Amino acid sequence: MTTLTAPDRRGTDSNKWRRYPADVLPLWVADMDFAADPRITEAIRARLDHGVLGYGRATDAQREVLVAAMQRDHGWQIEPEWLVFLPGVEGGFNMALSAFTSPGGGVMQELPVYAPLRAAPGHWGLTLHEIWQRPDAAGHWSSDTAKLDAAARASDALLLCNPQNPTGRVYTRAELEFRAELCLRHDMVLISDEIHCGLVLDGREHIPAASLSPEIAARSVTLMAASKTWNVPGLKTAFAIIPDAAMRARFEASKRGMVDSVNVLGLAGMSAAYAHCTDWRDAVRARLAANRDLLAARLPELIPGATMRPAEAGFLAWIDFRALELPTPAAEFFLDRARVALSGGSDFGSGLEGWARLNYGCTPEVLDEALQRMAQAVRDHGL
Ligand SMILES: Cc1ncc(COP(=O)(O)O)c(C=O)c1O
Repeated sequence: MTTLTAPDRRGTDSNKWRRYPADVLPLWVADMDFAADPRITEAIRARLDHGVLGYGRATDAQREVLVAAMQRDHGWQIEPEWLVFLPGVEGGFNMALSAFTSPGGGVMQELPVYAPLRAAPGHWGLTLHEIWQRPDAAGHWSSDTAKLDAAARASDALLLCNPQNPTGRVYTRAELEFRAELCLRHDMVLISDEIHCGLVLDGREHIPAASLSPEIAARSVTLMAASKTWNVPGLKTAFAIIPDAAMRARFEASKRGMVDSVNVLGLAGMSAAYAHCTDWRDAVRARLAANRDLLAARLPELIPGATMRPAEAGFLAWIDFRALELPTPAAEFFLDRARVALSGGSDFGSGLEGWARLNYGCTPEVLDEALQRMAQAVRDHGL
């Protein structure tokens, strides 16, 4: 049985644990507190033992590992040459926008969304057409199809985030088919950030949008990495899957002058993760589902009025604190008065100060302590 360990990260180079003073519990940036699978660290150590750390180029074997993983995990048959290696997914969606759109054009995106995705169109002189997700009758976050259609008419690209950050939504096949159809009908490029796809919970299935049909594949860039699933984001290694050769060439051209090769230790770690570490991934999924359920059960008891819809994937909870009428933005309130760092709602869309994103990729003890502190702060405030 795989056991997860959570070494003390205080005093290390962790951005999550260094950003705030030592008395703050950090539940903000999207990495987890669990140590990587030892098979990943051993692969990196073995690569180091070679001694020469020259510029890297993914080997055929490393490409084949990803080809096999796409088939194993998603039933998606990709070709080794479709893969383009990158130092990160954020760079990847920005390169894709720079390659496939022109300043003055439009990009559509569903909000709330991960801040760098929301900011990306602005970097390339593009207008962002926002579609706001709302809870539907079944309590799922979803977007109005008429609004999606209207935004598509004005857009050159659809920037998708699936599973979605911060709502934790996993798009269904029907939802993806609708979006793929929009791309085809309105001649949009599909740029799909699927970095959280390995962490689908409760036995759900992740469907890569580009896997739906050869037609949508031919106008797609899919971005993935081992970083979230196996908690190795500091390796800064990711990949794009670009089936169309002409699109690949344009994407490669947009990298020029900014990104050449990727980190050789990252390639070694990523390969080990995808090749050998599915049991670790399953263990972390179980831990995350348990943490999510703990949070969903304790939140209303401890902080009446705070609400969340349990995530379908990942380790992020998108929490609505508006009913509490806190005196400051929610994340600021809990940082100042509970010494718990959350991600502020306004990072994910304007006007969302009453919301915050909580990262439960930590031990249940840390999660419980954070909740207790938050509850105390709310009580002290007389709520
Ligand atoms: C949806 C999403 N995309 C991209 C990233 C960043 O990925 P990278 O570090 O590979 O640039 C994150 C990190 O939180 C994320 O949540």
